[in-house]
Amino acid sequence: MATGNITAAPRDNWGSKLGFVMAAAGSAVGLGNIWKFPYTAGENGGGAFVLIYLAFVIVIGFSVMLTEFAIGRHTSRSVVGSFKSTDKRWSFVGIIGVLSGLLIMGFYPVVGGWALAYVPKIATGLLDTPEAIGDSFGGFISDPVQPLLWMAAYLVLNIVIVSKGISGGIEKAGKILMPLLFLILIVVAVKGLSLPGAGAGLEFLFKPDFSKVDSHVVLAALGQAFFSLSLGMGAMITYGSYLKKKENLVQTTGMVVGMDTAVALLAGIAMFPAMFAFNMEPAAGPGLVFVVVPQLFAEMGHVGLLFALMFFVGLTVAALTSSVSLLEVVVSYLIEEKGMKRVTAVLSASCVMAAMCVFASLSLGGVGPKLFDTGVFDIFDLLTDKVFLAVGGMFICIFAGWRLNRIDLEKEITNNGKVSFPLFGLWYNLVKYVIPVAVAVVACAGILSGFESGKGAIMILALVIIGSTALISKKL
Ligand code: TRP
Repeated sequence: MATGNITAAPRDNWGSKLGFVMAAAGSAVGLGNIWKFPYTAGENGGGAFVLIYLAFVIVIGFSVMLTEFAIGRHTSRSVVGSFKSTDKRWSFVGIIGVLSGLLIMGFYPVVGGWALAYVPKIATGLLDTPEAIGDSFGGFISDPVQPLLWMAAYLVLNIVIVSKGISGGIEKAGKILMPLLFLILIVVAVKGLSLPGAGAGLEFLFKPDFSKVDSHVVLAALGQAFFSLSLGMGAMITYGSYLKKKENLVQTTGMVVGMDTAVALLAGIAMFPAMFAFNMEPAAGPGLVFVVVPQLFAEMGHVGLLFALMFFVGLTVAALTSSVSLLEVVVSYLIEEKGMKRVTAVLSASCVMAAMCVFASLSLGGVGPKLFDTGVFDIFDLLTDKVFLAVGGMFICIFAGWRLNRIDLEKEITNNGKVSFPLFGLWYNLVKYVIPVAVAVVACAGILSGFESGKGAIMILALVIIGSTALISKKL
């Protein structure tokens, strides 16, 4: 299996079907599912958010992922090249994708660093007592130095993996550790559910209260669906470009979407019952997993220690298999379009990312520049998850629906008629009409509602960046 040498002339293909599904699922399943989903659900009122999220995953997420795989396999190029080879005027969509990758990598390694840091912290018994855990997380992430060192270590792991090409140890590690992480999540869930008062957590997560829904919640659910499924920036276009012509795209998409969603829901079931049992606030924010999991296991003695350790090792690996796909999008752009050598591309991209991460990390301790009272970490998160990915996904759909040929798409998705996809017409109309309009409406309403908190202005900034990128890249 090879995602490594993107530039290799006869394109490598994925060695096995399972290999591809696991790699794409590796990109999708990451911090987005285990760290972001639970606290975002908590901040947005629980049940109703989860329901809207699931609806978006099934209708929009599935369709956009199938579109990205189809474009990738059809053009056999990674993100910028796949648009450029069809129509130069569309290269801007690829460039926006590269920019999104850069921006996400401006904060993702900070959180990846936290996960990595928790491995030795747990192993050395630093988090043995429940009392110490909450304070210790807050103190750790707002420290000016420690998290930076861990972020750097995490980024170095990414650099090593992507310099060698992704096909190597990381995939094997992912294949063993991802199922392990899934099992540990089940253990966490069972343990959490056994605590007194846990039922309230399940109720919070699954009983929708639509009075809590406003346009900001709907945009948050849409953003979470795109982020968690790795959509909207061409990561899945790049992966699809290595997919063999005989594989069944629809089935593959179903498997990746199913796994990603199962992990997110399981993470929710693992966190909320325990939180309610511990009397924590559902809107506890980004510290959620880092506080709940150690606390849950601290009560279990040595066995608990081992579980907690496996959890954070698993979380680190899940984060790695995702962030390498983000870095790879930027790197393959630099190689293909700017003619850089792989190592140079990896190092230059990571230098920019490291600098962004320093600001993102410091902002959590209240240090550094702010825009409309929002720190750098939150700005990068807002820009990407609420605007860039959704708008990118919208353009990808418009490109497939209006620029590509319906017959070509049908041939690509059905492998020239060999695979039946009775819902092709439905998918095509969703991609051509419904999704672009739905995304535009949700994004506009969400941006407008964000103005009370100053977030709207940052989201408008994202649109300005996207617009100017489109204009500039047309001139090039
Ligand atoms: N989906 C990953 C997660 O849930 C993050 C990620 C990897 C991503 N590649 C992406 C998000 C591409 C958007 C686009 O952690």
